[in-house]
Amino acid sequence: MNILLKNVKRLLPNEKMESCDVLIEEGKVKEISSSITNLVDQVIDGNDKLLVLPGFIDVHIHLREPGGEHKETIVTGTKAAARGGFTTVCAMPNTNPVPDQPEKVRHLLEKIKENAVVRVLPYASITKNLKGEELTHIKEIAEIDQVFAFTDDGVGIQTADHMLRAMKEAAACNKAIVAHCEDNSIVYGGVVHDGEVSKRLNLPGIPSLSESVQIARDVLLAEAAGCHYHVCHVSTKESVRVIRDAKKAGIHVTAEVTPHHLLLNEEFITENNANYKMNPPLRSKADQEALLEGLLDGTIDFIATDHAPHTEGEKEVGMHDAPFGIVGLETAFSLLYTYLVEPGKVTLNQLVDWLTIKPATVFNLPYGRLAEGEIADLTLVDLTGGIKLDKNSFYSKGKNTPFHNWEVSGLPVVTIVEGKIVYEECPHVI
Ligand code: DOR
Repeated sequence: MNILLKNVKRLLPNEKMESCDVLIEEGKVKEISSSITNLVDQVIDGNDKLLVLPGFIDVHIHLREPGGEHKETIVTGTKAAARGGFTTVCAMPNTNPVPDQPEKVRHLLEKIKENAVVRVLPYASITKNLKGEELTHIKEIAEIDQVFAFTDDGVGIQTADHMLRAMKEAAACNKAIVAHCEDNSIVYGGVVHDGEVSKRLNLPGIPSLSESVQIARDVLLAEAAGCHYHVCHVSTKESVRVIRDAKKAGIHVTAEVTPHHLLLNEEFITENNANYKMNPPLRSKADQEALLEGLLDGTIDFIATDHAPHTEGEKEVGMHDAPFGIVGLETAFSLLYTYLVEPGKVTLNQLVDWLTIKPATVFNLPYGRLAEGEIADLTLVDLTGGIKLDKNSFYSKGKNTPFHNWEVSGLPVVTIVEGKIVYEECPHVI
């Protein structure tokens, strides 16, 4: 199917926008020019209003299938991704069963092929059943093409021995180790950041050190192993400092930050509401500021949502007992555009890069670029109108967001994966 995007705008490096038409043929961007008149199967008219961007990439989401279908499925999670403008997502392995053997990974890939609306690249786990005891057969699993990388996200790898051996094996297969950094011996049963809120709400606190100390260990292990080491959801100023120093030392470390850690801090938690509970937790204002600074100076490479759906029943039980995690796919771009780009804290080019070319470059993916000849993964956004975010409108089964009712602009309205429309908000399309 051929598609013509008529009267859309593209973003130039100097932040100006230029009107253009984009012709999509056989899954690729065939032509970008000021006026294209080819006969095609479908025309989408941007009415000089819609901005065409490379499709967004999110290397950190939880699809919950298999085993957690009451929270999310491959269908609902990828529909949510498409609605958020994401064309490639990487699914975390904390499912049941865990993809920790080649046959389980293959089975998961079959389910993805049958059900996914956008491209899904699954992670495999570092340790069997995420137990931190026995390493998976990294070499054998890495032979399966679509496997994105190895991670035990949700839990930290507790011993240096496990981490070092995993890194050596992953390096030999040219795969990254992607790490949730948390030293359990200094978490002390915490459920929110160890700071103002933990005192005010009388809840056990998670010290910043439980994250940063493990990153400090791991960058040295990565150096010794010659491994690409990627840090998930960085949340503390000390972590930013350790990563910055490691990069300066020439260690192959990369890092991501979530929209919620960029936009919120512990002061936003005014009541015992588990939609503010995630791991790592919302930290102090100083931490929040250090994360943006780290993103701006390149210490943190890009943004990933950590989309983590849970049921309303699970979240209703309050901060102490509810599971960690919030959803993010359907709100990420609008929130970041409204609260970082519009006030001038970052540029639109920077935001787009952090959602496209940066993760693609870090992980060597052939996506995230808008140019003739590239794969036609595209997102059209409407920067004009504003709405109130409504969790009840989510395609995701998860309604667990602290951003319900926030006012935003910058809405993804059409999403195209390899030349196929996977999401469209009707009014803009003819
Ligand atoms: O908040 C979180 N939720 N952090 C994680 O590391 C795991 C995730 C989940 O799976 O719910």
